[in-house]
Amino acid sequence: MTARAAGPSSARVGVAVPAAGSGLRMGGVRKAFLYLLGQPTLLHALGPFLAETRVVAVVVALAPEDASSPPSWLLDLAPRVLVVAGGATRSQSVRSAIAALPEDLDAIAVHDAARPLITLRVVAECLDLALEGFGAVAGCPAVDTLKRVDTQGFVLDTPDRSSFWHAQTPQVFPAGVLRAAYADARAEGTDDSALVERTGSGVRVRMVDAGPSNLKVTRPEDVPVAEAILRGRAER
Ligand code: C5P
Repeated sequence: MTARAAGPSSARVGVAVPAAGSGLRMGGVRKAFLYLLGQPTLLHALGPFLAETRVVAVVVALAPEDASSPPSWLLDLAPRVLVVAGGATRSQSVRSAIAALPEDLDAIAVHDAARPLITLRVVAECLDLALEGFGAVAGCPAVDTLKRVDTQGFVLDTPDRSSFWHAQTPQVFPAGVLRAAYADARAEGTDDSALVERTGSGVRVRMVDAGPSNLKVTRPEDVPVAEAILRGRAER
């Protein structure tokens, strides 16, 4: 992986990495510390950001019990990468991480530790957009037909899937825009862009196609899939 210096060389980007999930759907295994091809998921997820010269600071929100004694492979990345204690929800973890980033940033990216397959191309494209004043959300167009259903699963209607995308991370915004979205301590949700959209800031948010391989390692069956994708990339 090569470092990239696109955009104004003075651009300063911070990254907030929520990594404090309990891993319930992974049988209680913390996804951030799960090894994929011999490397922790969190390190895979950080790689493309650390290869970006515009990224000046990364704050990882770990579960409080892990934040008090982080693994050595994470401490070794200081001072560019710092650790804080996360909260009971993803939003609280993101809020804690943002609060620990430097004040003087042009853009802030939020990236889930559970997405280890993110590429430098997608990170760079998202950063470019945010530094131009847009929001940027990694994702991919919906390929299955979508059904809107009621609470019992009965179909209400079939929206035109061509206007639907799946949202992933990273999600990157001008720093002030993201800080404003998280300024309300009650703002909750699993999607950073949704919080920004609710503030009515007027910032336009663009989807960046990361493809379906930017998957979130959530369940045990995701592990062999993620490892196969990583192996395929290494062999290319
Ligand atoms: O489980 P979920 O899909 O919501 O997790 C998305 C990301 O948010 C994961 O990287 C997880 O570690 C993080 N998270 C967090 N704090 C929580 C819950 C989830 O940092 N309380």
